[in-house]
Amino acid sequence: MKHLIDPTDLTKPEIDEIISLAQDIIAHRERYQGSMSHKKLATLFYEPSTRTRLSFTSAMMELGGNVLGFSDARSSSVSKGESVQDTVRVVGCFADVIAMRHHIEGAQLYATEVSTVPIINAGDGSHSHPTQTLTDLLTIQRELGHIDGITIGFCGDLRFGRTVHSLIKALSRYKDIKVILIAPDELKLPDYIKQDVCERTGIPYREVTTMEEVMGELDVLYMTRVQKERFLDEDEFDRVKDSFVLDAARMALAKKKMAVLHPLPRVNEILTEVDSDPRAAYFRQVENGKFVREALIVKLLEWKDDPEHGMPSDETPVEDPELRCPNKKCICNNEHAPHRFRLTENGVLRCWYCDSKVR
Ligand code: NCD
Repeated sequence: MKHLIDPTDLTKPEIDEIISLAQDIIAHRERYQGSMSHKKLATLFYEPSTRTRLSFTSAMMELGGNVLGFSDARSSSVSKGESVQDTVRVVGCFADVIAMRHHIEGAQLYATEVSTVPIINAGDGSHSHPTQTLTDLLTIQRELGHIDGITIGFCGDLRFGRTVHSLIKALSRYKDIKVILIAPDELKLPDYIKQDVCERTGIPYREVTTMEEVMGELDVLYMTRVQKERFLDEDEFDRVKDSFVLDAARMALAKKKMAVLHPLPRVNEILTEVDSDPRAAYFRQVENGKFVREALIVKLLEWKDDPEHGMPSDETPVEDPELRCPNKKCICNNEHAPHRFRLTENGVLRCWYCDSKVR
């Protein structure tokens, strides 16, 4: 069964197929209207969302399909204590594909173990957000005409920003990418992305503490919101909340052809004076999200049971009942998921579900 839980569940040719189908949908919308009639998408959102949930809904409607689900888990049997796995077993009886957002990391991966329909991860805690990644890739392609060869600056909350983690993973599939990380010490990119993604796949990255020093080098500036809801310590949040602000003066330092992306919602990190700059691509990015989700739904239903499009199977989990994942927000510390691990090439043992370092 083909699911999309992590960007690396898609091969480069599969990503290319989704991006080019999205472009074809943009060019010939009428051809795809009705292509999903009698198909149903369930949106199971255990965490707030505007864009992601509505763009999935709008995507399925454009394709002529139907949508069911919940946007507040308190109105579902989850409030009675139903597990994620039981919920997807039940919803699989009603829908052809499930898009799920959850505050618990690894929840969707755990759900795939019993699901009879494809599951799309619409965000799990601060871990991954692969459909935002497809949105970002389509946006970069449309704004700049290419993805290979870009220098991309990630700015803001690189620690909890799941969209950043997923986009870097996907960019490791492209050629000659350079990454610049612009963040205060408290919000630096997690080690597993630096080591297991950048270093292992050879993406050069550099860490800096001001936007000004790198603005002129960037083809893409990826701004992010400081993720208030993920901080355990409110004082720490207050110290870093306004770390980086993009304004017209900083835009003046950038290349003439550059694209500013932001997964949105923004809080203070991009002043509204930037919105009218032609390089501000974040609202066009929102619309791209709908088209790419249309393409993803079509492709996942096509690939669902095709052995040529399975899930990556190059890793075997290590099971050790003595070991524990240290992440309180991981599925294995919240439901009866097994304590299961993966041994990385550099000898680090990581949680199978959330990538936290175990040993
Ligand atoms: C992002 C998310 O939910 O991770 N938003 C989105 O999906 N477009 C970013 C955020 O919440 O800051």
